[in-house]
Amino acid sequence: QGAPRLVLRMQARRGDAFAELMGGPAGFADPYPLIERLRGEGRFIRTSLSWATFDHELCRTILRDSRFGVRTTESFDIPGPIQKLAKYFPLPPNPVEPPSMLVIDPPEHTQMRKPVASAFTPRAIRRLSDRVETVTAELLDGLPSGGSADLVTAFAAQVPIAIISEMLGFPEADKDLFLHWGDQMTPLLDVGISWRAHRRALISMEVMNDYLDEHIARLRRTPGDDILSTLVTAGELDTFALKATASLLMGAGFETTVNLIGNGVVQLLKHPEQLERLRAEPELWPNAIEEVLRIDSPVQTTARTALCDVEIDGVQLRAGQTVVLSLAGANRDPAVFAEPDRFDVGRANAKEHLSFSSGIHVCLGASLARMEGVYALQALFDRFPDLQLDGQPRRRKLFTLHGYEQLPVRLGRRA
Ligand code: HEM
Repeated sequence: QGAPRLVLRMQARRGDAFAELMGGPAGFADPYPLIERLRGEGRFIRTSLSWATFDHELCRTILRDSRFGVRTTESFDIPGPIQKLAKYFPLPPNPVEPPSMLVIDPPEHTQMRKPVASAFTPRAIRRLSDRVETVTAELLDGLPSGGSADLVTAFAAQVPIAIISEMLGFPEADKDLFLHWGDQMTPLLDVGISWRAHRRALISMEVMNDYLDEHIARLRRTPGDDILSTLVTAGELDTFALKATASLLMGAGFETTVNLIGNGVVQLLKHPEQLERLRAEPELWPNAIEEVLRIDSPVQTTARTALCDVEIDGVQLRAGQTVVLSLAGANRDPAVFAEPDRFDVGRANAKEHLSFSSGIHVCLGASLARMEGVYALQALFDRFPDLQLDGQPRRRKLFTLHGYEQLPVRLGRRA
């Protein structure tokens, strides 16, 4: 058990709102009251773990400031036994460790991001729209008219995994493997992950590493027209970097969008008047997706480390100090969003949310996620107009990623 996990638990028990937010049950069940308490402590606060901000302007400023980077110097995420192990055995590529682009700074970041970026431009993504529509329709065809379902496993998880698997050239039959590996690896994004959870993630990483070795070897022999084949053929990334990129794209490609779709279903079912408005004004769907992203951010926090001594909001940070940036907090900042707790599909500035981050690490898959969100939610409510919750949705026990693991619904008759 790493020290931060213990610290987190002790602090949470003593009523420390930040420790609770990052590692206590309320942190994943309903983080927003905790966020508001912390916002009340100031724009830029010193917490039991690090500096933190819930302020939209500060989050955006820090994300776009080149004096901050993503490499953490004091790693409180890797438990002691794993660190010892890593001295003797090379660890497999990990989507949240270098050389994954998510956690490296320029110039290496640019080298890792550039070769992939062209596959995710809004134009490239628009070309996928027919495929997203077809996949969504097929999944909805498979749901039992008049019956019940768990919408996460039967639908919300299936749309993004099907699309990103195809984009990367993985066989459709293997998507359950990725769902399992993703499930085991997502806790790595949280602070204070237990030794046991870390070990489970490591096992998945090892197995996935072997799988990717074989897959990449196959693509070297017979490349297809998918993103990985393009990267393999271009020859700019070595095999380790290719595997890190593949696992990041795979994980980021579905572990977040599943939350967007699930969170969207719950918001719309809890606010039937908003759903009515969308039926009357379907052109509002893209904006409704922005509002879902804003009000219940699928990625709640990120962090940046000062690369040099820097003054922020009157506070002097030393090089190496970390700041937790609450994207979910920024999204409900009353200085930017009027009545921030109100879900309003017509909100004029919903798109100002920071759910996709900002600056050089801004989400590469934002256009894809937006498109999948619109197609999935609009088609779902068109095909099953009487959809209703059938029991209490259950949250994933994760803090950085925020969504449902179970979403029981009565589907009603298919339209
Ligand atoms: C980065 C959110 C979907 C690929 C990020 C970051 C956020 C984010 C917040 C930046 C983290 C930081 O600044 O530290 C989301 C959300 C999504 C989503 C909320 C869905 C609703 C996707 C999809 C893909 C994707 C579908 C496609 C493969 C990536 C990649 C990065 C990234 C590759 C790393 C970019 C970099 O470091 O330069 N995402 N994402 N994301 N996302 Fe997404």
